Amino acid sequence: MNKERKLIIAGNWKMNKTVAEALDLVNGLKRELANVKEVDIVVCPPFTALSEVSKEILNTNLRLGAQNMSEQNMGAFTGEIAAGMLKEFSVRYVILGHSERRQYQKETDELIARKALAVHAAALKPIVCVGETLAERESGLTEKIVEQQVRGSLAGLSQEQMEETILAYEPVWAIGTGRNATSPQAQEVHAFIRHTLNQMFDETIAKRARIQYGGSVKPSNARDLMSQPDVDGALVGGASLEVRSFSDIIKNSI
Ligand code: PGA
Repeated sequence: MNKERKLIIAGNWKMNKTVAEALDLVNGLKRELANVKEVDIVVCPPFTALSEVSKEILNTNLRLGAQNMSEQNMGAFTGEIAAGMLKEFSVRYVILGHSERRQYQKETDELIARKALAVHAAALKPIVCVGETLAERESGLTEKIVEQQVRGSLAGLSQEQMEETILAYEPVWAIGTGRNATSPQAQEVHAFIRHTLNQMFDETIAKRARIQYGGSVKPSNARDLMSQPDVDGALVGGASLEVRSFSDIIKNSI
């Protein structure tokens, strides 16, 4: 597939996989995806598996991401994980503001923006998630909510930092439900996000920014979604937990 921007496809494992299971999965992915150069491939295991997965994917085309990070560098923050700790395991990407964290941990755009600055301060790359709920979509509020989240979550980032930032459009109603956004629905919001980036930053930034789609991505819908002009990759939950489905999503997207 001839894309304007290089595709980036990331597996968000969420709270799944013991270390042994994680190693099984990455071993399979290494085998299946060894020759893929057209796509940036990222796996985001739980914190407890980062160390072993990191060793396993050394010198491969798989890159490592974390699912969250503290905005603090160190200190009395029980249960939190700082950038420096992630860097010990060669983590390159950090998912921020996933809708599950917005919902269950009450993360706000302001907090996500502070975390994004901390991620950049450590020379890591944030994957900043935005997306509307079903009620918001049905009330015609999709653009309003998405714009608010994009502006709020990226507030304070410099042009240079934005160049190293990835966005993920994940409509909440499509996450883990088996009901993906249709390709035209995804394209419409992706184009709107790019337009918002143009207003916030400039045309070059908007043109270069990679925007992933997330929400029930599977091998059967990956090609169609990835062929949309403003869809530059995927953030995959459930289907990233098995070698076959995650590698087929990637192969079908090329
Ligand atoms: P899903 O999750 O692929 O299981 O819908 C996507 C996500 O939450 O990142």
